[in-house]
Amino acid sequence: MVHYRPPQEFVCNRSMIDEADRETLGRKWPACWEDAASLLEWINPYDRILDKENSPFYQWFIGGKLNAAENCIDRHLSERKSQVALRWEGKQGERRTYTYYDLYREVSAIAAALRELGVKEDDVVTIYLPKLPELPITMLACARIGAVHNVVFAGFAPDALVSRMQRVDSSALVTCDGSFREETMIDQKRKADAALASLKESPPVIVVDRLGTSHDTQLGKTQYDYDDLVETYVGADVAPVPRQSTDPLFHIHTSGTTGDPQQMTHATGGYLAGVARTSRTVFDLSPGTTIWCTADIGWITGHSYVVYGPLLSGATVVLMEGSLRYPDRHRPWKVIERNGVEILYTTPEVIRTFMKWGESFPEAHDRSSLQLLGTVGEPISPDTWKWYYTHVGEERCPIVDTWWQTETGCILISTRPGIDESKPGSVGPSLPGIKIQIVDEDGRELPPGEPGYLTITRPWPSMLAPLDGDRYWVLAEYWQTFSDPRADNWRYFTSDQAVVDDDGYVTIIGRDDHIITVDNRRLGTAEIEAVITTVDAVTEAAAVAESTAGETTLCVFATLKQEQWDRNVIRNAITDAVAEHIGEFARPANVIFAPELPETHSGKTMYRLLECVVNDRPFTDSDTLRNPEILGELATIWNWK
Ligand code: WT7
Repeated sequence: MVHYRPPQEFVCNRSMIDEADRETLGRKWPACWEDAASLLEWINPYDRILDKENSPFYQWFIGGKLNAAENCIDRHLSERKSQVALRWEGKQGERRTYTYYDLYREVSAIAAALRELGVKEDDVVTIYLPKLPELPITMLACARIGAVHNVVFAGFAPDALVSRMQRVDSSALVTCDGSFREETMIDQKRKADAALASLKESPPVIVVDRLGTSHDTQLGKTQYDYDDLVETYVGADVAPVPRQSTDPLFHIHTSGTTGDPQQMTHATGGYLAGVARTSRTVFDLSPGTTIWCTADIGWITGHSYVVYGPLLSGATVVLMEGSLRYPDRHRPWKVIERNGVEILYTTPEVIRTFMKWGESFPEAHDRSSLQLLGTVGEPISPDTWKWYYTHVGEERCPIVDTWWQTETGCILISTRPGIDESKPGSVGPSLPGIKIQIVDEDGRELPPGEPGYLTITRPWPSMLAPLDGDRYWVLAEYWQTFSDPRADNWRYFTSDQAVVDDDGYVTIIGRDDHIITVDNRRLGTAEIEAVITTVDAVTEAAAVAESTAGETTLCVFATLKQEQWDRNVIRNAITDAVAEHIGEFARPANVIFAPELPETHSGKTMYRLLECVVNDRPFTDSDTLRNPEILGELATIWNWK
């Protein structure tokens, strides 16, 4: 494997990361995490770093009090009040910038408005907005008054919004009148109203006016215009509410494997410490650095590295509304050029799309501002890595391949740019303070070179926080002790398969559950399948990812109750059901009617083999199948479709 040494130009320009790490590495665990906590401003210092009493429901920085909005905004005012905090580019070419002081004013106004609408400390506010500046502003307004935000991806359909509001007992909703998907107008308000109609009682709703006079939106009795609220409350002095380190900062939903999306909660102190620390170690973020992370804010990547990490670091965030290909394929490169983007953080799926379009697009633009590139979300192939390195980074920007999850809150495995070498395809060593182990089914540690389950053997600050009541124990599924139930022996199961080299570099093989990424959104196949089986004619369904020239779409296999039904009608019913209940972005590109699905003897659908069918790959390891003969038949049906 070719190793890439950190490019010399980068190493010369940046030196602080090394210092910070040396200090961390010199201290024992968990004391090494004090360095992360010291990146935050505490209203009350904590008296204990880690509470292991209720393991595995660990809690961090006990006794400490802080406020997330104060850490992201107020603390910067004395030194960088007029520095740009946020640069936004709209779909129609509009541009807006917010200084840290602008953020302070608008966040305070919305915080005052939320309070006036009855939102109290610990209440949950659901935010259902596309990539508009009002989205991070509302998140921070919630944090300022100690309310817990619950951001729901704006592309989700009303049903998905309702279940995500109900699960966390949301007391308010923030949405907008509409937005555009390329040329098509999306009536966001109509989707929100449809969701509200199925709630017992409609909570107060704040509506951002995105479309201006081109669209007339009717506001209901408990619905308020965002700009009117800002006008009314601007100038309000809302003191940041001191929150316990262990108090929730936000809820977020992950793609569950059981049919229902799963609620995840992150606690204020530990989450912010982990994100602040990795923003420095992995992205080398410092005041004034311009970062563009292409993720939607509705996903954890957006929470951690569009909003909290960059703002905690005093950086400048670039936020781009709309699609990378609209109005044309030059858009991403124009965004980089116009805003002087220094750090670009995206996914292998996006990089593959850029590759498919060809290097003439990036090469037509000035990329000299770029200093560091990042990737996340799925394994990146060495070819894709090299293309990114050469054609985007001009062979002078290190690439950080960052491994983490919604549950982990921040990056846990990655090379440190300027310090560690990169090996394309491998994410790198675990970061200082994080200890990993590859184990077999019985929890025995495997030697380097042998693939197994990726586990994390010690708690870390930004780890998933315990939930209350019944839901508390759902999280227990993530933890296992195997034979020895001593408290210190808990291991966090990531659901990923991986292999580690002699020198500690980790290569991620893939997930051992059924999550697929479509249009950069991770979806649990179970949630999609549950929708498909509501179509009358369908008995069983399996959804898999199909890759065509670098783009991923959804392919559905369905078995029917009666063979003679009109397949076109059923096909439309299936694709419409998914679009309606999950969202238009998830509409399946292909529906294949199968006599039966490939199953193991214990009745588990073999997704891996279905993926071989749709991606024209040879079948491997199919001997555990109950019905191996079905594979050939499915391949024939697929080729004739
Ligand atoms: C899963 C977590 C938090 C990032 C966005 C997704 C996969 C993540 C990598 C990487 C290979 C990766 C894993 C992980 N993943 N980063 N650099 N290389 N695979 O968050 O939806 O919680 O998904 O994404 O399978 O378990 P998520």
